[in-house]
Amino acid sequence: MDSIIVTGGAELNGRIPIAGAKNACLALMPATLLSDEPLTLTNAPRLSDIKTMTQLLQSLGAEVTSMQDGRVLTLSSHNLTSHRADYDIVRKMRASNLVLGPLLARAGHAVVSLPGGCAIGARPMDLHIAGLEALGAEVELKDGYLHAVARGGLKGAVIEQRFASVGATENIVMAATLAKGTTVLKNAAREPEIVDLVRCLRAMGARIAGEGTSRIEIEGVDRLGGATHRVVADRIELGTYMIAPAIAGGSVELIGGTRDLLPAFCEKLEEAGVTITQTNEGLHVARANGRVHAVDVKTEVYPGFPTDLQAQMMALMCTSDGVSVLEETIFENRFMHAPELMRMGAKIDVHGGHATVTGVQRLKGAPVMATDLRASVSLILAGLGAEGETQVNRVYHLDRGYERVEEKLSACGARIERVRGE
Ligand code: UD1
Repeated sequence: MDSIIVTGGAELNGRIPIAGAKNACLALMPATLLSDEPLTLTNAPRLSDIKTMTQLLQSLGAEVTSMQDGRVLTLSSHNLTSHRADYDIVRKMRASNLVLGPLLARAGHAVVSLPGGCAIGARPMDLHIAGLEALGAEVELKDGYLHAVARGGLKGAVIEQRFASVGATENIVMAATLAKGTTVLKNAAREPEIVDLVRCLRAMGARIAGEGTSRIEIEGVDRLGGATHRVVADRIELGTYMIAPAIAGGSVELIGGTRDLLPAFCEKLEEAGVTITQTNEGLHVARANGRVHAVDVKTEVYPGFPTDLQAQMMALMCTSDGVSVLEETIFENRFMHAPELMRMGAKIDVHGGHATVTGVQRLKGAPVMATDLRASVSLILAGLGAEGETQVNRVYHLDRGYERVEEKLSACGARIERVRGE
């Protein structure tokens, strides 16, 4: 298994291009299942999660062509041959559950294994199921698989989610595009990835209003056509690389980044003493001399502080000038990076959904273990500022969500390399 070795202490200066959003692309790809005409996605990220989704769609009979070294994907589902998403693929990635809504809407039935993905909590699917049942589907759990049938087709309904789930919103919106009548989804997720999905569905002929607000209205149509759509920038990759110069010092321009993708996160970084400026091409981020200030953070749904940046923020707070409290409200069990950071000399006390971080002058490099996608990158970030060498093992999690991380950081002066394992 590959590992990444970071030698801390080098300032970062330069430019980093931000890729298309993994989480947007993983929702956009299954949208192909709604139409028999081709869907082309440009600005796709080159990540193992995208390969997993490609395999899953191919196993259903979709054709997926990759061009420009994976940057452009053309997906065609004119001839679906299966409606079963197998455990062998689904277990690798929770977002596989995003084929459920579109398959059900197009084929009238779907069998989808319950997902795996990052081990960051229970992550049930009750909201997906309740939404599809409200649209008239019958959903049953048998042998670890959800069996969904829409006898007589899906019908529009008023649905109010108990929690603004990103994945459930995506599944329900996709399914409702081909339902009879109007669907109103209340307490819908408002994340930029939802807005991106709706824009693409609209380009395919769907009739949807209200994306980006908590009330999305979908008027079902008989069929959807093809479209070409550019994937929105990855706000989590953006936020991750914004933290890099905040930890290591220096100044970096993040090409393609915009502030509106991360409103609360940008405010917190500024409160910590980081300078953020919007340029013509992206976001410029700089940290002047000295340690950052301690700030408290609470993860929330968009536009709040994203849970997917909590681990990276914790890495930054490890060397702040005071005590900060990080509260995780979206997932239970999402502090697995804390013990690894403590191996590097961080002072962290985890109590339930809170972590109290007392800043130290400097972390010390150590061998550490990546436990999930965002945790792994937080250890790399910590290593950038640490004294000596940090070896991050088990980086397959990292490759699910970050493309060429070592190249992007070393182009800005970081001392980082990948060591290939067997
Ligand atoms: C998506 C993102 C993930 C991010 C998360 C929250 C993708 C591919 N992944 O995941 O990176 O961390 O949003 O921003 O886009 N829940 C239920 N019942 C359900 C569904 C969810 O209780 O049916 C709970 C989950 O257990 C979790 C919370 O809701 O505690 C958030 O989950 P959700 O918004 O659904 O996240 P995902 O779509 O899985």
